[in-house]
Amino acid sequence: MPLPPPGPDAHVLVTGASSGIGAAIARALAARGYPTMLVARREEALTELAAELRDRSGLTSEVHAADLGADEGRDTVRRIVLDDERVVGVVNAAGLGVTGRVADLADEDGRAALDGLVRLNVLALHDLTIAAVGALVHRAEATRRTGAILNVSSITAFQPLPGVASYAASKAFVQSFSEAVNAELSGTGVTLTTLSPGLTRTGFADAAGTDAFEQAPDVFVGEATDVAEAGVAAMAAGQRTVVPGLVNQLSAAGGRLAPRSLLLPAVNTAMDWFT
Ligand SMILES: NC(=O)c1ccc[n+]([C@@H]2O[C@H](COP(=O)([O-])OP(=O)(O)OC[C@H]3O[C@@H](n4cnc5c(N)ncnc54)[C@H](OP(=O)(O)O)[C@@H]3O)[C@@H](O)[C@H]2O)c1
Repeated sequence: MPLPPPGPDAHVLVTGASSGIGAAIARALAARGYPTMLVARREEALTELAAELRDRSGLTSEVHAADLGADEGRDTVRRIVLDDERVVGVVNAAGLGVTGRVADLADEDGRAALDGLVRLNVLALHDLTIAAVGALVHRAEATRRTGAILNVSSITAFQPLPGVASYAASKAFVQSFSEAVNAELSGTGVTLTTLSPGLTRTGFADAAGTDAFEQAPDVFVGEATDVAEAGVAAMAAGQRTVVPGLVNQLSAAGGRLAPRSLLLPAVNTAMDWFT
């Protein structure tokens, strides 16, 4: 098993643990017996989750408040992954969306929002994945203890998306980078799994400034607990990728296979509804 058996010295660090999918992943890991290290900016929400996990499972959870969009926060978390020998798993769930057409986001505020998106979704995930790969492979060689990484992508990774162009491109980066590294890790005792959810009820829509999730039919909107279960099960099994739910699997396949000359104009019109 790529994620080693749970124990007091087998910690999993989870970014984006203060809400949504990251918090649900921390709960799913704790239910399997893994102590967690919880990372996000909102310390109070992390502390509440740590208390909940302790009450439910008797496990300790460490709280590390950090802004992964800033160099200092990223460095702090990278050092934990590199230096703390108890870390056997890393989950990169922190991420944010920005909706709107690029021409409408070309002012100072819009550019700052898109810059923040790239810093978090791309730069921070890239940086922490590199740290996790280096540390976990080294530990696997030194101790024969396996390790596992879970990167949260999205079904938006599978085709360009007008209206959320930078977000979809950031997830295409996550998907491509993570799948390539998964192959590189073959035979090392360390695995990297990519989780690509579709629309999921979390704090994401509020943060991205859209109410499209409320308008979408229920069949298109999943629950964070189901997404987290699928992600943690795939991580524990060392799977390369997981797209939770049949509707999302069909959407991902459509995004990959449909000719872009047909897909992009249709999506461009449909995204008026989303933005
Ligand atoms: N919800 C969806 O429909 C959906 C679909 C596909 C993929 N995803 C992906 O799933 C992941 C989790 O999103 P979610 O849906 O659970 O949304 P969410 O509820 O808004 O959670 C986002 C998490 O990221 C953290 N975060 C945001 N900015 C941060 C920063 N600068 N530094 C550190 N942490 C930061 C937030 O914590 P703080 O605010 O406390 O920092 C929060 O814990 C993201 O990567 C997202 O792209 C979501």
